Amino acid sequence: MNGTRWVWIAGLIAIGACGVARAQEGAGDVVYVPTPQVVVDAMLDMAKVNAKDYIIDLGSGDGRIVITAAKKYGARGFGVDLDQVLLKRANETAKREGVAERARFVEENLFETDLSKATVITTYLLPEMNEKLRPKILQLKAGTRVVAHDYHMGEWQPDDNETLSVPEKTVGNPGKSYIYLWYVPANAAGQWQIRAPIGGQTLAIDLDLSQHFQMLIGNARINDRAAQVQGARVRGEDVTFWLTVGSGANAVRHEFNGRLQGDTIDGTLRVHAGKKVDQAAFTARRIAPGKLELGSSL
Ligand SMILES: C[S@@+](CC[C@H](N)C(=O)[O-])C[C@H]1O[C@@H](n2cnc3c(N)ncnc32)[C@H](O)[C@@H]1O
Repeated sequence: MNGTRWVWIAGLIAIGACGVARAQEGAGDVVYVPTPQVVVDAMLDMAKVNAKDYIIDLGSGDGRIVITAAKKYGARGFGVDLDQVLLKRANETAKREGVAERARFVEENLFETDLSKATVITTYLLPEMNEKLRPKILQLKAGTRVVAHDYHMGEWQPDDNETLSVPEKTVGNPGKSYIYLWYVPANAAGQWQIRAPIGGQTLAIDLDLSQHFQMLIGNARINDRAAQVQGARVRGEDVTFWLTVGSGANAVRHEFNGRLQGDTIDGTLRVHAGKKVDQAAFTARRIAPGKLELGSSL
């Protein structure tokens, strides 16, 4: 049994001894520990949940995450759990709160859940469970958000994170909650060509990108001069990178922000040369696929 599981169980026994909750609620691969409401609110806020979202909570406990998303933001979705008592409680709460049409809870193993409708996935599971889910999540539509309470996704670094002080929390990380947010990244790996008319000249750019989760590294040439590739990453379908030629006071920085669809990135280019800034639209076209690394599955 790993250290994380011990901390959870020790905390639950302590809660049970105080008579606040029965020990060993929950079923399956991890015991039931509710996410404090203040953390639920912060998770949904970080994921910018809205009425267009379809949210799936994997291991839904008393249903508070999906019910809050439905009540506060008008989102719809469902939760899965293996504990029938918790499922009943969740469905009853959804009904009482008037959101049973939009928030339902079903008995299902979370590793077998069809995630294809999700625009937001939430978890409060052990890290090895998050990592086991990771390959399936990474196959979802680019831009799907994943918010996890307390535990990470291994080598897939979060796109955003927050630490909350939660004095009433006694289990997991007592007194504190960590929230992590990921966007399923689009595939931006490959050789790209950009032709951008800007500041009275046309830039001819060749860019070669490899991708590790959402991070991009690569080489570039601008009008046949070597350029440094920096700050390159994908956030859902949004792609950002900077190409710098020259150095010191002569450095010219080209900032690209665009949206990737298929083999095209459309967006805005800003060229900073000293105090002068030029701006223009750009289109990048992929002429060959590249290396996309999404880690190994457990
Ligand atoms: C830590 S609780 C989180 C509850 C809720 N998501 C929250 O944040 O308040 C984890 C839940 O996962 C459920 N669970 C554990 N293994 C599961 C599995 N393989 N399939 C479905 N649910 C599971 C447990 O019954 C428990 O309710």
